[in-house]
Amino acid sequence: MQKIETDSNTRDKQFGQRVEIMKKMVADLNLRLAELPGGGREKAVAKHRQRGKLTARERIELLLDAGTPFLELSALAAYGQYDNQFPSAGIVTGIGVIHDREVIIVANDATVKGGTYVHETIKKHLRAQEIAMQNHLPCIYLVDSGGIFLPEQARVFPDKEDFGRIFYNQAQLSAQGIPQIAVVMGSCTAGGAYVPAMSDETIIVRNQGTIFIGGPPLVKAATGEEVSAEELGGGHVHTHISGVADHLAENDEHALELCRSIIETLPEPEKMSLDIHSSEEPARQIKNIYGTLPVNEKYNPEVRELIAHIVDNSEWHEFKSDYAPTIRTGFARIMGYPAGIIANNGVIYAETARKTAHFIQLCEFRKIPIVFLQNITGFIVGKKHEHAGIARDGAKMIHAVANANVPKFTIITGGSYGAGNYAMAGRAFNPHFLWMYPNAKIGVMGGKQAAEVLTSIQTATANKNGQSTDEKNSKATFDKIRDQYEHESSAFYSTSRLWDDGIIDPADTRRYLAMGIAVSRNRLWNEPKHGVFRM
Ligand code: COA
Repeated sequence: MQKIETDSNTRDKQFGQRVEIMKKMVADLNLRLAELPGGGREKAVAKHRQRGKLTARERIELLLDAGTPFLELSALAAYGQYDNQFPSAGIVTGIGVIHDREVIIVANDATVKGGTYVHETIKKHLRAQEIAMQNHLPCIYLVDSGGIFLPEQARVFPDKEDFGRIFYNQAQLSAQGIPQIAVVMGSCTAGGAYVPAMSDETIIVRNQGTIFIGGPPLVKAATGEEVSAEELGGGHVHTHISGVADHLAENDEHALELCRSIIETLPEPEKMSLDIHSSEEPARQIKNIYGTLPVNEKYNPEVRELIAHIVDNSEWHEFKSDYAPTIRTGFARIMGYPAGIIANNGVIYAETARKTAHFIQLCEFRKIPIVFLQNITGFIVGKKHEHAGIARDGAKMIHAVANANVPKFTIITGGSYGAGNYAMAGRAFNPHFLWMYPNAKIGVMGGKQAAEVLTSIQTATANKNGQSTDEKNSKATFDKIRDQYEHESSAFYSTSRLWDDGIIDPADTRRYLAMGIAVSRNRLWNEPKHGVFRM
């Protein structure tokens, strides 16, 4: 491996400015994250505690091995939507370690509208199950939910990827031999009753957890029968009479202890073998990573400098360093784990796409996970390039990315636009994880470009109809589209809608990637297999 030496301008005049801009963005991110546990809903949290219950995040902390990290997913889901009444979309999900074993946790937050589900709550729950499937991780459901948030039923109930998909996935996970444990720590109503009922083992808390298909008001309305929640489907009922649950816990702490005990009984997973070394810090100071990033449109950094802040010892084996330099490719280590890195360094040309497809094949045959560092405006456009068949070469890259048999990890470090998003393992290409930096932007094209396209179409249509174009109108359309695109392309807009797994501090990149690779070893990777490459 060679030390990454760049003549890039990390010490240029604007370096300090870029660091300051990114510091502010990270501080803003941290502020928004800090508000999540209780901000604005102190009354609901106090009521929850009065009932002797722990909060969702406290439950997770107790469940995990002491001192181990929790890789929280999409913490800012639903941010800025529903008048901010659904922090984290009312559900906490993430990966943690119990008895040295990686598991995925899905914990309802009953202090957020009774733990009910809006569209993003479901997306988050389903995403956690998808990660469980992709990585063969045991699933733990800490259930405390009133089911569907009824005013939103049309966006939550009927479609393929709606509430019902949770239970479909449970059956699929079970058939794949992936263990699922439910801990019923509160309400578990209607469809929600199937979460514990479909799990391998279920724990329920006495005088606190309830499981029923229809709650007491519904029973009264339907049959006239009057019954209390506890009598209908409380802990005693389900562990002594119905058998729907297997273990009766005295309180939250006891329930979590029982859950840890179940995890202890699971067989060890057969892990994907990788050549893992001991971790070495990058030779660069991590705090300087901020200065390497495209925090504004004017700065187009040489991406090797960013890579030097991410990889062990700031060393890598670059592949085709002198060819097609608008993508940098190379092998390195991240906290000791091997990684093939593919990083944008400009627009994608035909030779760039071919070089990347070749490099992906190397990663596949060597069984090395791939890290995509996305900062891409798209593929090169223009007559010369169309005539040379850019679409055909781009297709090779897209084939290779889509079918890569090794885990993919994508970080959007700057812009993510157009087909460049797809070719660099955007969400549609099933990366194991996709994270964004706070400065990242995502959209079909930039705001200015979209505004130009739409105003020129408007002008052409008016001309065709023999109408004159009003300059004031055109400017109004231009401004409206540009502003809309600016708003919708922000990292916060994206993460609110779960187009990613969360916004991360760039200084934590190594930690996220290393955890991601570690998690991906829980399932054996397939052999390389590709479709037809058009030559
Ligand atoms: N849809 C919409 N809102 C709901 C809801 C639902 N299914 N369940 C609860 N909420 C709201 C409440 O209106 C309340 O809102 P507010 O904070 O704006 O006042 C908030 O969630 C908390 O509910 P509350 O009843 O005060 O809390 P609780 O902790 O005492 O009880 C439940 C929580 C979930 C046990 C209880 O609200 C309940 O039984 N809900 C209905 C459950 C149901 O029948 N679901 C079937 C749908 S599949």
